Amino acid sequence: MKKLMLVSVVIITMLFTSQMNEILAQSGAIDKKVDSLLAIMTLEEKIGQMNQYSSFWNPTGPIPEGSNEQMRYNHIKSGLVGSMLNVYGVENVRAVQEIAVNETRLGIPIIFGLDVVHGHRTVFPIPLAESASWDMEAIESAARYAAVEASAAGVNWTFAPMVDISRDARWGRVMEGAGEDPYLGSKIAMARVKGFQGDDLSKPNTIAATAKHLAGYGFPEAGKDYNSVDVSHSILYNVILPPFKASLDADVKSVMNAFNSLNGVPATASHFLQRDILKEDWDFQGFVLSDWASGLEMIDHGYARDLKHVAELSVIAGSDMDMESLAYVQHLEELVESGTVEMHIIDDAVRRILRVKYELGLFEDPYKYCDLQREKELIYHPDHLEAALEMAKKSIVLLKNNNDLLPLNKKQQNIAVIGALAADKNSPLGNWRIGSEDSTAISVLEGLDKYTNDYKYVKGPDFVMEETFFHSHVNINQTDTNGFAEAIQTAKNAEVVIMVLGEHGFQTGEGRSRAHIGLPGLQQELLEAVYEVNQNIVLVLMNGRPLTITWADEHIPSILETWQLGSQSGNAIAAVLFGDYNPGGKLPMTFPRSVGQIPIYYNHFSTGRPVSHNSVFWSHYTDETNSPLYPFGYGLSYTEFEYANLSLDTTNNEAIKVMVDVTNVGDVAGEEVVQLYIQDEVASLVRPVKELKGFDKINLRPGESKEVTFTLTDQELGFYNNEGEYLVEPGKFNVMVGTNSADVLKTSFIKK
Ligand code: NOJ
Repeated sequence: MKKLMLVSVVIITMLFTSQMNEILAQSGAIDKKVDSLLAIMTLEEKIGQMNQYSSFWNPTGPIPEGSNEQMRYNHIKSGLVGSMLNVYGVENVRAVQEIAVNETRLGIPIIFGLDVVHGHRTVFPIPLAESASWDMEAIESAARYAAVEASAAGVNWTFAPMVDISRDARWGRVMEGAGEDPYLGSKIAMARVKGFQGDDLSKPNTIAATAKHLAGYGFPEAGKDYNSVDVSHSILYNVILPPFKASLDADVKSVMNAFNSLNGVPATASHFLQRDILKEDWDFQGFVLSDWASGLEMIDHGYARDLKHVAELSVIAGSDMDMESLAYVQHLEELVESGTVEMHIIDDAVRRILRVKYELGLFEDPYKYCDLQREKELIYHPDHLEAALEMAKKSIVLLKNNNDLLPLNKKQQNIAVIGALAADKNSPLGNWRIGSEDSTAISVLEGLDKYTNDYKYVKGPDFVMEETFFHSHVNINQTDTNGFAEAIQTAKNAEVVIMVLGEHGFQTGEGRSRAHIGLPGLQQELLEAVYEVNQNIVLVLMNGRPLTITWADEHIPSILETWQLGSQSGNAIAAVLFGDYNPGGKLPMTFPRSVGQIPIYYNHFSTGRPVSHNSVFWSHYTDETNSPLYPFGYGLSYTEFEYANLSLDTTNNEAIKVMVDVTNVGDVAGEEVVQLYIQDEVASLVRPVKELKGFDKINLRPGESKEVTFTLTDQELGFYNNEGEYLVEPGKFNVMVGTNSADVLKTSFIKK
């Protein structure tokens, strides 16, 4: 009997193997191939495709109880794993892929995902920094280089871009996004998706992208990561969803859901988000991935009774692949067999996943991303480092420059450089750079070395006592003032002081919300102490979020926002400090004066009491002004730009032309981001006081003028009502064009 069973298993296996080969030999459309494969898959094999595990050696979330390495290995071997995350490097990927391809019945290749967020081994600036460039070509190409390196290291899918709009600088993950604006955020989402996916997903150097986190994750209450989210439909449709839609327009292959709930429903169980909007209204053909154990967490949310309930709720709502909850692999089979979950739901999910695997070309060659030679050649390729340098320069924002203290003269003597971050080679890599090697950034000191040796470096008090990525927040020195005396003494004798201060790279990112967003540790005290003895200070800020640097803005003559700029950080900063590069970055997120102002953002609604009328009864604080420290879109240059002659051509009401003249009135060439805002003055639903609807980055020589033209169509003039319908209403529109969201020329027209 046993023998008979064995023979029949062998025959069936042979049959399937030959069927498999036949399928692979088919040259028909991908959908046909997917259907043929689906037809021979068992329920268990289908569920396997919907299951994703992390490697044990680099987890990016808590490993669920009861899970261990052996179990994962066994599951891969028995076809119960369709995808792995956090496995990278050609040898590692090949080893896992071999198990899937050679040891499972159907040999379906695994898709390998990783958070390739801003580069892989070569690290580009954090996404918030890149967003400050407002340079879509550069942003797209940064994602392209990241894909080239990651794919050379075996990875074929990134969990990026994070397209969550956020208005709260306390939230640690603002470093990973494009800032506060849905228009800029949509353009950047598109650029990043295009960069990762390239023009042909089947090429070995392109990877599938993921728009995440659907939806509302960037609006956690009080900026605390994983906290409750409470947003209106107006915010959802007009602010949160547009970058997701833009990602779809760029053909993004996957969407990740979110940890938060929306109107009482955890995103992973949200039929409304995943099916109604994403898959039906927007006709999304890719697949939805849960966030790390976001299914399992529905038990803690108080929404699911147990893991079986998790599986039922998630799959019915449209979450196609389960990352690290173990819900599908443990419970979907029984749910289907009992009729609770219908088979077509499983088939639809698996079809979506297999389609992407086919599009990537994994069936043709499961090892197409596993070429050791390619990995060797492409990691840290000089072109990538060059591109990372260019991107880093473009990301820098000049916040203040009194008396033209910057750029420094190349012959500048007697410079004091102060601050632990100046020598740091790790922190500038920022967070979310899993594929990178620690301490590989060019430090500020190394950058300066290329320009001068006439500086004295004093670290000052220690900044960080301990840094670990996974378990703890960075341990910042709050008490040990050793190093103050030397810093003060050195500053006293210097002609100019460069102070490099800010946040450590691991103070932002997932799980790194901060309630106080000033300079951490003793840095503010150090800054003030140095200022006492020498006011000629250039403050070089390194941070992953807007900071409340109000004192610095009042006292320090020059402030340069350099974020966390990645591998080439110090080279880019030195080039700007010494004037070899004229900074042209503009803030993608408002800088508050104090935490109490948060959420503070430029595209707010008008209240019924926007002005004072000489009474206390208006919308304001009694102890803080309403205005931000630096508005959205703000950034200076070593030259100046003058705006004039804002005019409109309304001949064609469907395509209104907006013209403005911009002149470089300074002495050096420079780049300017010309920004167009509109306001729908009276509408059937209250509209923001202004909304970005266009921008153009131009380069002008000294004395040169350029007429910049924008076109306003229904695409720019409408908005979503609370039912998600797009409306364009006639009436008066204000049009504003300027150098940032607060400093604009204004005109208006009537839309018929
Ligand atoms: C949790 C994060 O929220 C998500 O963005 C990331 O892709 C996964 N962990 C995997 O690392």
